[in-house]
Amino acid sequence: EPVLRDLAAAHGIYYGTAVTASKLNGTYATVAAQQFDSLTPGNEMKWGSVEPVRGDFRWSGADAVVDFAEAHGQKVRGHTLVWHSQLPSWVENGSWTADGLRAVVADHIATEAGRYKGRIDHWDVVNEPFNEDGTRRQSVFQRVLGDGYVAEAFRAARAADPAAKLYLNDYNVEGINAKSDAMYNLVRSLKAQGVPIDGVGLQAHLIVGQVPSTLRANIQRFADLGVDVAVTELDIRMTLPATDAKLAQQKADYKAVTQACLAVARCAGVTVWGFTDSDSWIPDFFEGQGAATPYDENYRPKPAYYGIAEAL
Ligand code: XIL
Repeated sequence: EPVLRDLAAAHGIYYGTAVTASKLNGTYATVAAQQFDSLTPGNEMKWGSVEPVRGDFRWSGADAVVDFAEAHGQKVRGHTLVWHSQLPSWVENGSWTADGLRAVVADHIATEAGRYKGRIDHWDVVNEPFNEDGTRRQSVFQRVLGDGYVAEAFRAARAADPAAKLYLNDYNVEGINAKSDAMYNLVRSLKAQGVPIDGVGLQAHLIVGQVPSTLRANIQRFADLGVDVAVTELDIRMTLPATDAKLAQQKADYKAVTQACLAVARCAGVTVWGFTDSDSWIPDFFEGQGAATPYDENYRPKPAYYGIAEAL
């Protein structure tokens, strides 16, 4: 079978996958190491995973992914420093003053990005700051700190790990729409203020047959602002059961997304959000949906895998 990481490297991009640290053995580990040249911990670097109780740090899962990646010559995407979800309750439900929360966020970024300094290629510094209409999501960070929390987070991340490429990441921003317009305007404004942002992540949790027709143009407009772009969490779900027709459409969709990245020089790479249907969040979060990844539950390549290989 073709090796995605080698095909991608020949084009100057990476092909990555999200992984679950506790599964990194046996066939799962073999496929992750052989086929992909970038890993994202699916959950292990989220605030709720690393500091569930204030001052009580749990780094074993995150360490395991970073160690595995280094052993196999893979990049790491750190995911994620500032996000409204999977927050520890002590952060989400604290009764904060602005100065109090600002200090806690700065300390979190310094601690986590500092721990892995020099070992992370890309950090998703801020994840999912927007509502669908392009207004700011009313997270605890937005409510207490206001719009400026995004710029503050990027400055803190740069100070903690100057070599890491710093990304702003969100979903439903793959095509040109109100939400990606807001992201575009924010990136332009951050750049104009000298805020250290290096890239934009398009999560790309897509539906079979619905790759946005403006994906390539959208990647290009961000690139034209002077930032890199990555597809950071690609999966393409379908209503179960999977049929040959749906799997064929999914193959075309994976191919199209990969081609859109290849078409823009500043597109750094693509990460799938789990490489196997046995390690996908989709069935748990979208009722009746699944089969969203390039490998089936028994680690057999699906048509989608060959669609990626054809694009590369
Ligand atoms: C998902 C994980 O895959 C699940 O295991 C977890 O239960 C919930 O989060 N956007 C993101 C990712 O940025 O962190 C999410 O990951 C999927 C949506």
